[in-house]
Amino acid sequence: MGKFTLRGWLAEIRQQKYPAIDNPLSEAAILAADALKLPRETILSHPEIPLSGAQRIRLMEKWKKRTEGYPLPYLLGWWEFYGLKFFLNSQVLIPRPETEELVLLALDWLRSQDGPVWAADVGTGSGCIAVSLAVNCPTVTIHALDISPEALKVARKNARAHQVSARIRFVHSDLFGNRKKKFDLIVANLPYIPTRILDHLEVARREPRLALDGGPDGLRFVKKLLVQSREVLKHKGQMILEIEETTGQSALQAAGQILPGWDITLRKDLAGRDRFLIINRK
Ligand SMILES: C[S@@+](CC[C@H](N)C(=O)[O-])C[C@H]1O[C@@H](n2cnc3c(N)ncnc32)[C@H](O)[C@@H]1O
Repeated sequence: MGKFTLRGWLAEIRQQKYPAIDNPLSEAAILAADALKLPRETILSHPEIPLSGAQRIRLMEKWKKRTEGYPLPYLLGWWEFYGLKFFLNSQVLIPRPETEELVLLALDWLRSQDGPVWAADVGTGSGCIAVSLAVNCPTVTIHALDISPEALKVARKNARAHQVSARIRFVHSDLFGNRKKKFDLIVANLPYIPTRILDHLEVARREPRLALDGGPDGLRFVKKLLVQSREVLKHKGQMILEIEETTGQSALQAAGQILPGWDITLRKDLAGRDRFLIINRK
């Protein structure tokens, strides 16, 4: 049998149709780069690279899972967020680009502050928000909370990988629980998909329901956090919450009722969808 090369493998993929995958060749190249521990450019510029029998079998197994709808980031075991590589497994949400906008908003606020700042990331998941903030702002110390011990393991690993463990404390907790420590900044991307919408989404079969299900109106956790923020957000502090696009007006209304007199803004993401509540305490 002749030598099997990357070119051969990519040609096999090119011959098939994969309606559920937007860009099959590009995803196949990412998988190959990861499997061979080579940069993606090398995969594309050197299709003559040989694949051993074992490599070919492993790639084919992964590709089969991908064609069955298994998300690429879980197959790789990592994904990029805010320019950093984050370890992932199927116990944590795959970080989304909208959440990078939340990090940007939070960094803008952090950089406007003098001196050390205490922040909380509620529902930290993979730790992508907390770690990105700590890497990009040396004056912040963060409490990263999650109800899922499995998620906290992943988040700790990511903090170690990016050498910010000393400034992030990981806490197993149902939102803030009974904690009374006060924070200058609270960020949260809590489960926010209304249950009736979630039940029809593919994502509900692939990613942890605990990370997605926001209850009947999508605001179950957001409202609880708004109530808790009266105790835990410092005066002059800021809170940034990511929300589901159809819940913008109801989230704004709930925040106004729960936090009368606080400065509350609904902000759209880059795609023009209601996405963030930004709340400033006077
Ligand atoms: C939408 S995911 C966000 C993960 C990560 N922050 C991100 O942006 O990719 C929500 C996270 O909230 C956690 N969570 C769900 N209910 C919670 C609760 N009651 N208290 C704390 N965390 C909770 C889930 O385990 C999950 O990790």
